[in-house]
Amino acid sequence: MVREWDPRTASSAEITSLLDTLNAVLATDLPQDPPWRESSLREYLSEVMPGERRISWLAQAEPGEDGGPAAVLGHVQVLLLGGIGVLEVLVHPSVRRTGLGRTLVRLAGRRVWDEGFQSIGVEVVGGTPAVAFYDSLGFAREYVETRSVLDLTAVDWPALAEMATGVAAGYHVEFHPGGPPEELLEAYARAKAEVRDVDDGELRPSSYDPQRLRESLDTLHRRGMKPYIVLALHEHSGEVAGLTEVVVPAQHPTRADQYDTIVVQDHRGYGLDRAIKARMLLELRSAEPELAEVQTWNAQANEAMLKVNAELGYRPDREWCEYSVDVAELVHRLDAGAAGRDGGRSQ
Ligand SMILES: CC(C)(COP(=O)(O)OP(=O)(O)OC[C@H]1O[C@@H](n2cnc3c(N)ncnc32)[C@H](O)[C@@H]1OP(=O)(O)O)[C@@H](O)C(=O)NCCC(=O)NCCS
Repeated sequence: MVREWDPRTASSAEITSLLDTLNAVLATDLPQDPPWRESSLREYLSEVMPGERRISWLAQAEPGEDGGPAAVLGHVQVLLLGGIGVLEVLVHPSVRRTGLGRTLVRLAGRRVWDEGFQSIGVEVVGGTPAVAFYDSLGFAREYVETRSVLDLTAVDWPALAEMATGVAAGYHVEFHPGGPPEELLEAYARAKAEVRDVDDGELRPSSYDPQRLRESLDTLHRRGMKPYIVLALHEHSGEVAGLTEVVVPAQHPTRADQYDTIVVQDHRGYGLDRAIKARMLLELRSAEPELAEVQTWNAQANEAMLKVNAELGYRPDREWCEYSVDVAELVHRLDAGAAGRDGGRSQ
C-alpha cells in the first residue's frame, strides 16, 4: 500500500519503522556509514526553508495479523525549491527489484509535473544500485563529486595544532558554535556570495544574503542539525576572508558533515584554508566528544581543496553524483512502462 504521508502528523511507530528501513538500506549500500538514530528524525523529515515544500509518500506492508503496525517498505519525498524538485527514494533491501522504486518515482514525478515544475534532480551514490535504477529511468548525470571521510582517531593532532596557527599577520581566526554572530552575518553572506557557482552543485544551494542565511541557520537548528563555524577575519577591513562550516546532525552525531569552505579571492595564498579547517577539527574534538568522523564532498576538479583535505587526513570514499531528468519525459516514460506492464489498466 502506497499513500501520501506527512511526517509531522505520522505515528511514532511509522517514524521508527522508516528509521529501520533507512538503516537496512545503509547497512546494504553504505556499510561503512553510521546507522541513523531517531533523535529529531521527524523534524529532519518535515522542516523546510521558507518558500520550500516537501511532499512524501510511504509504502507499507499489509498490517500484521496481530494488529501490529505495518512495516515501512519504501519512502519517497520530493523537495520543491526554486525551479526544481529534489527527489529522495528508499526501498527496503528485502523488496528490491519488484518495481516499488519505479512506482514511487512515478507518483512523485506526476506530482512534480502537476505542480508545474520542469526538472527533477537527485543525488546518486556511486557503487550502489541507485546508479542502474536512475539510468533505467532516463536520468542523466550532471555533476560528479568525491565524498571523502576523515577518521578522527587517525588525525595527527600536534601537526594539526601547528597548521591551525599558520595564518599570515593581519588575520585572526574565530570559532562560532551555532552559526556566525549577528554582527558578522552581512560580511559572512558577502564572502559566500563572492564564490557562488564555483564549487556548488545544483542540489545544495548556499545562502548568499543575510536574511536567507538567517533562515537557513534556523532551519538547520529545527532539523536537529548543529552548525559550527570557523571564520578568518581580515583585521584591516573587518571583512570575512575565509570561512568553514561543519554540521553535526542529531541523526548521526558520530559523523559530521563538512559544508562550505570558502577563501575569498583577495585573501588566497595566506594559509587560511588549511588554518581554518585545522582549527575547526581542534574545536570539534572538545565540543563534540562523540564525534568520530567528518565527511566532505568536493568537485573532482577542485585540486587545491583536495590537496588540503589530503593533508588533514581525509581519504576519498565514493563518487557522489547529481542526476537530473525532464519531468515530462519521466512521466511519459513511466506511464508508458506501467501501461505496458499491466496491459493498459493503470491510470
Ligand atoms: C535505487 C532503489 C530505489 C531501487 O528500488 P527498487 O524498488 O529495487 O527498483 P525497481 O524494482 O523499481 O527497479 C526499476 C529498474 O531499475 C533498474 N535497477 C534497479 N536496481 C538495479 C540493480 N541492482 N541492478 C541493475 N538494475 C537495477 C532495473 O532496470 C529495474 O527494472 P527491472 O527490475 O524490470 O529490470 C533502491 O535500490 C534503493 O532504495 N536504494 C537506496 C537509495 C538511496 O538513496 N540511498 C541513499 C542512502 S544509501
